[in-house]
Amino acid sequence: MKALIDAQNISKIYGEDSNRTVALDGLNLRINKGEFVAIIGPSGSGKSTLMHILGCLDRPTSGKYFLEGKLVSNLGENELARIRNEQIGFVFQAFNLLPRTKSIKNVELPLIYSKVKQGERETRARLMLEAVGLSDKLNSLPSQLSGGQMQRVAIARALVNKPLVIFADEPTGNLDSKASQEIIEIFKKLNREGRTIVMITHEKEVAGKAKRIIAIRDGKIVSDRRVK
Ligand SMILES: Nc1ncnc2c1ncn2[C@@H]1O[C@H](COP(=O)(O)OP(=O)(O)OP(=O)(O)O)[C@@H](O)[C@H]1O
Ligand SMILES: [Mg+2]
Repeated sequence: MKALIDAQNISKIYGEDSNRTVALDGLNLRINKGEFVAIIGPSGSGKSTLMHILGCLDRPTSGKYFLEGKLVSNLGENELARIRNEQIGFVFQAFNLLPRTKSIKNVELPLIYSKVKQGERETRARLMLEAVGLSDKLNSLPSQLSGGQMQRVAIARALVNKPLVIFADEPTGNLDSKASQEIIEIFKKLNREGRTIVMITHEKEVAGKAKRIIAIRDGKIVSDRRVK
């Protein structure tokens, strides 16, 4: 079977000479459609660097990355941006919502970039907000929402373009345990519906909800196991 994500011998080196940091060191990783993967590892082990490369936010220093069979590691900035917009959903620790913008407009944003018409944008944004349990908060500003609700808006935004895969970097890092629980339940539901999710987390308990746990240390995978 062709993997959705196929990263081969990926290295990422930042800086030069005395500033040289090997963030990823010949890492190999394959993820199939429909997986729910947690990536764990100590601070500085290369988790975010890996997500940036897999999410086409950055390119490896060496190695090959195939996304759905297509070699993307040698593409230029514009082509990478197009892949990001059309095929990848991101969720970040800090939510990254536009502050003076209602939930529904925040969720519509990726569709504006991909030139979907207003009427369809609204319909799709509303459906996604309903899917994350926020049909009563369509017109709320981020400042009027709880942390967990803001993160749910961010998840709806990540989903609205029907991406191939969702990457989440510490999605529960700014949330209390109850809100974290809600976010994980949403990811589990989305995964049951067939979506592919790759989630970075520091928290053992959060990682334990995924179906596969990959541990990274010094830019290499040191363990990779299926749960249950
Ligand atoms: N833009 C950059 N320039 C230089 N070095 C960087 C850059 N980004 C990351 N690094 C270095 O690469 C290594 C891996 O960083 P990365 O952010 O991937 O770690 P992480 O596992 O996500 O850590 P954390 O759990 O703290 O978020 C670290 O040593 C870091 O200092
Ligand atoms: Mg990080």
